Amino acid sequence: MATRLTVNQRVWDVEAAPDTPLLYVLINELELHGPRFGCGLAQCGSCSVLMDGVEIRSCVTPVGKVGGKSITTFEGLPAWYAEQRKLTPVPELHPLQQAVIDEQATQCGYCLNGLVIKAAELLSKTPEPSEEQIRKAMNGHLCRCGTYPRFMKAIERAAHNMTLDGGNAQQGGGR
Ligand code: FES
Ligand code: FES
Repeated sequence: MATRLTVNQRVWDVEAAPDTPLLYVLINELELHGPRFGCGLAQCGSCSVLMDGVEIRSCVTPVGKVGGKSITTFEGLPAWYAEQRKLTPVPELHPLQQAVIDEQATQCGYCLNGLVIKAAELLSKTPEPSEEQIRKAMNGHLCRCGTYPRFMKAIERAAHNMTLDGGNAQQGGGR
């Protein structure tokens, strides 16, 4: 029996067995390549997605458990953000994605998906996080290239720009 999923605001019926990891479905059936396979053991965060706005590790989440939930991947972050802020049109990038570019906060990029997903969750709940709150939130995400200092700056830059978006929501932008 097919499992009905909502991924990036679109409904999909997938044929994978219910115990198939969500990550495999996202990559192999939906051809989404933001989430990455890293450890496969919920240890690194490279596979993270948002489920109803909360970060989950898709490598250990059976697809049968997410029916009826709203899944957002790296690719869907701009639309997810626009929906939250009532922004039109949908920006090309989530402010965090833009800030990563602006701060040159990535090297090989393998960890990028998880770092951005987790930071997006953080800023949606805590718009002006302290350094300690950022460190605590990002603690479970591994970056082999050691980009943490630059990524910290990217989060701070995004938080600042998102404050501007909040002020200009009715005009549809402001980043
Ligand atoms: S691949 Fe899922 S946490 Fe590492
Ligand atoms: S940028 Fe290479 S693992 Fe993080």
